[in-house]
Amino acid sequence: MTQDLDSIVETARRAFAQAATPADLENAKAQFTGKAGRITELMKGLAALPVEEKKGRGAAINVAKQAIEAALAERRQALADAELELQLKAEALDVSLPGRVREPGGLHPVSLTLERIELIFASMGFDVADGPEVESDWHSFTSLNNPPNHPARSMQDTFYVDINGEDGIPYNLRPHTSPMQVRYAQQHVRKYAGGEMPEIRVIAPGRTYRVDSDATHSPMFHQCEGLWLGENVSFKDLKVVFTDFCRTFFESDDLALRFRPSFFPFTEPSAEIDIQFQSGPLAGRWLEVAGSGQVHPAVVRNMGLDPEKYIGFAFGMGPDRLTMLRYGVNDLRLFFDGDIRFLRQFR
Ligand code: DAH
Repeated sequence: MTQDLDSIVETARRAFAQAATPADLENAKAQFTGKAGRITELMKGLAALPVEEKKGRGAAINVAKQAIEAALAERRQALADAELELQLKAEALDVSLPGRVREPGGLHPVSLTLERIELIFASMGFDVADGPEVESDWHSFTSLNNPPNHPARSMQDTFYVDINGEDGIPYNLRPHTSPMQVRYAQQHVRKYAGGEMPEIRVIAPGRTYRVDSDATHSPMFHQCEGLWLGENVSFKDLKVVFTDFCRTFFESDDLALRFRPSFFPFTEPSAEIDIQFQSGPLAGRWLEVAGSGQVHPAVVRNMGLDPEKYIGFAFGMGPDRLTMLRYGVNDLRLFFDGDIRFLRQFR
């Protein structure tokens, strides 16, 4: 091959090597083997050569052309390989990553407790009722023998809503489930008006609210109210029902109950119910689980019933506390943090 051809091939190789993309490469190619490329021009120049030189020169140009095309093909392949490499990297699948598993869900531990409470009381003939969480002042307090300005109101630090009820007093976020006593009893009375009225036996579980927050108090918590009212229902019945409930709930007969005198405006007499486990990690300690008492005559009257005829008991317990005791949880706030690592243990 002649000197000029060698240098053209060399220039082409360098130009191809510098082409960073397929488009650059095709542009570079045009300068050598394209319509106006240097090799093409040389081919055209052959016509002017004398016959005896034509053959040798033509062959040499062809060799150069082939060398250029080989270099071009090689560079095309290299660019295509590089592009594929990049694409593979970008779309890389890390097969060592754990898959996204959909684990079976489960009920919240407090929901499990509420279900348990409902089942146990239903088996003892109790109805299960539900009511509003935004309550009127009358239902949360006054109907429960706790009128405005009564000192017992300060037992609960209540949340109020910026809307007044019919009585001109702001609605509140119910601080207990006790208003359900009056709501349910009134419904019951209406339902059986004019006929024979069966005893009232109901529980009312649900959310309650107080301005309170520490390891054993949350501003939103749960309560379960209970009410048994009839013509001949006594404190003895309360004791039997509640003892039975606790033994079933904790699946243990190895359990003592204590009724400790207390005060609530809506009951007279009133008692707090403590339980004592006889064995296990909590053995020996008395733990408060509910407030209770004989329904106050003023409350019976507000239910639309004659307190001379109807008598009974009520209780209010804390399902959150019961859940803590049953599972050995020592911070109530865990129930409301929504941390899946905690919650999945109850699945
Ligand atoms: N409502 C009371 C409270 O939140 C608990 C309670 C006490 C409910 C005595 C009752 C009862 O029904 O009889 O502290």
